[in-house]
Amino acid sequence: MLQATDENGEHMNELDMADKILDLLIGGHDTASVAITFIIKYLSELPHIYNQVLEAYVWNKWRLQNSKKLGELLNQEDIQKLKYSWNVACEVMRLTPPLQGAFREALNDFVFNGFSFPKGWKLYWSANSTHKNLECFPKSEKFDPTRFEGNGPAPYTFVPFGGGPRMCPRKEYSRLEILVFMHNVVKRFNWEKLISNEKIILDPMPMPAKGLPVRLIPHKHVD
Ligand code: HEM
Repeated sequence: MLQATDENGEHMNELDMADKILDLLIGGHDTASVAITFIIKYLSELPHIYNQVLEAYVWNKWRLQNSKKLGELLNQEDIQKLKYSWNVACEVMRLTPPLQGAFREALNDFVFNGFSFPKGWKLYWSANSTHKNLECFPKSEKFDPTRFEGNGPAPYTFVPFGGGPRMCPRKEYSRLEILVFMHNVVKRFNWEKLISNEKIILDPMPMPAKGLPVRLIPHKHVD
């Protein structure tokens, strides 16, 4: 950022840089931690889904044992194979997107669904309402990771990371972060929520009001 210049050769001023660093800190930390928090919440509420994630882990462990040396860490290829866990993470982000949406500016006049939008208008696209739209996601309130099997949802209907040229540049990094977290927690623990109906607040991202306290229950046999 110190060295970058725009098309006129101008450097960024201090305020711009501070703004971008804050963007990275907030965009890079809060989003993924909200996603992970809600994965923990849904998995404790849906034991059959937790069991399938665990089963997929056990299967994966068997596969890894046959292909890796003891103590060798997961690599990018292993992560790609954690498909069920990623489908679960996507379903969590569909029902509770960490970022509710973002703004765009209309580059031209256009008409959508019978409404006219003049050039220059600011528009807000909402991940939350698109993810609950029954045309895009039948029985949209139901937690169903199989929605992401095969070709998955139609383009631009599942948008926790936004879409188009300004979509989140760190989607793949977040996938890695979330999957490594799920893998390491699920293989060691089950857990139960300490507050059964904890309120969810929006500040501006969704968060359980008391920080989702849980009791961890270690598995008997872990390696
Ligand atoms: C689960 C994790 C994450 C979610 C759900 C998420 C979601 C989003 C969304 C919805 C946008 C707006 C996209 C648009 O306007 O189309 C965005 C933009 C952005 N995200 Fe993420 N994000 C996540 C993780 C991260 C991480 C880990 C980083 C950085 C380390 C990051 C950095 C950014 C930046 C810099 C932008 C602005 C891109 C631009 O305006 O061109 N995000 N993210």
